[in-house]
Amino acid sequence: MRRDDRGLELTTSSADAAEALSRAATSLVGHRLDAMAHVNVALDADPGCVLAHAMKGLLVVGVRLPGRYPEAQAELEAAETASDRANEREKGYLAALSALIRGRTLDAVSHYETILAACPRDLLAHRLVQFELFWIGESTWMRDIVERAAPAWSADVPGFGAFQALRAFGCEENGFHADAERYGRDSVERDPANGWGAHAVAHVMEMQGRDEDGIAWLDGLKGHWSELNNFVHHLWWHRSLFHLSRGEFGAVLEFYDREVRDPESPLIEANPGHYGDFQNAVDLLKRLDMYGCDVGDRWEAIADLAEDRIGNHAAPLSSGHVATALAAAGRDSAVEAYLAALRGYASTDETDNAARVRSAVLPAAEGAIAHQRGDHEAALGHLLPARRGLWRIGGSHAQRDLFTRILADSARRLGRNDVVDILLEEMSRTGFARPAERLRPPGVAKH
Ligand SMILES: [Fe+2]
Repeated sequence: MRRDDRGLELTTSSADAAEALSRAATSLVGHRLDAMAHVNVALDADPGCVLAHAMKGLLVVGVRLPGRYPEAQAELEAAETASDRANEREKGYLAALSALIRGRTLDAVSHYETILAACPRDLLAHRLVQFELFWIGESTWMRDIVERAAPAWSADVPGFGAFQALRAFGCEENGFHADAERYGRDSVERDPANGWGAHAVAHVMEMQGRDEDGIAWLDGLKGHWSELNNFVHHLWWHRSLFHLSRGEFGAVLEFYDREVRDPESPLIEANPGHYGDFQNAVDLLKRLDMYGCDVGDRWEAIADLAEDRIGNHAAPLSSGHVATALAAAGRDSAVEAYLAALRGYASTDETDNAARVRSAVLPAAEGAIAHQRGDHEAALGHLLPARRGLWRIGGSHAQRDLFTRILADSARRLGRNDVVDILLEEMSRTGFARPAERLRPPGVAKH
């Protein structure tokens, strides 16, 4: 038996495997590129290491491509053959992996909560449960878990900076902006390469409309992001939002081509269909479209990615973006194939994910498609009654804001100022400062 950085027991006799597992956890928590490489080192050192197999499976499931789930299942089965030697914490990871492979997100969350009740310093479980809850929109739950564990943490616990980043994001999505900024800045002071901490503070600045602060904050940290995985593109998406808000569309297109969606960058070449990258791209292009900015032929490459995602329901927010991209590129037959797959899944699948598709993804998708086709009455018909449940599509306030903007744009084009006023009031309650200016940044015609 060995122990990890925080003293948690690891079922392995190999010191090399234990060290590699700790490195893998640090990498995964830190959105770094080399998590899988460290897991493989652990497996080379101890092929029967249960937690290494579980982590490998969880990394595979984390990319949200069900076509790759058999790889995760193989890791699960390899781990189960050795699981009689595993401790309860490690068995918890296996149970979470099994649940995720079967589309049972809430079951996986329960397994992580059980791990954290016994081991509140398990940083990996914190990262994974926040990831799962974030992608289903359960922001209150997300914060509750990290706050529950906070008394077990202090500056002398290894990984404290990463914990502070998780705490910051939990606070931010629940409107505790001052706490979020304090924890986020603390995490970055401890490690300037902590992308999640930088990200939480960027979210605070986005919500508060602090465009200049946001640009300066991210600009000051960008030199520390060379080891980050595709999450770095999301940081550039945030940077782009600040410029978008200032009406600097040329800068946004420049960032889009160079930092958010450069098809020749090594990260995108290695994983062109990454769901987060896809979301960032669709979101920026649609926001630019709605502001009347010509995005050229950029939708075409993104619509190709969207077609590849038809029938993939593992990431609800991405499913909403698929509709947006296909409609924007005018791919009508693909839109119909996508909607048929989505409706079929929503009506026949019994997982909590399918319930989310029924209540949030379908109205968001149908609203986005109607908006793109200029049928603004239909867009209102889909989005207005569903809007209060759209949080179930997952992601952050800033990401879901795209669908509020689509609804507001349709309402504005119909002259429905009553609806626009309601939406502005709701945006304000959600925590967005200056909502009216967000809908009409400088330089955008009031047509
Ligand atoms: Fe974000």
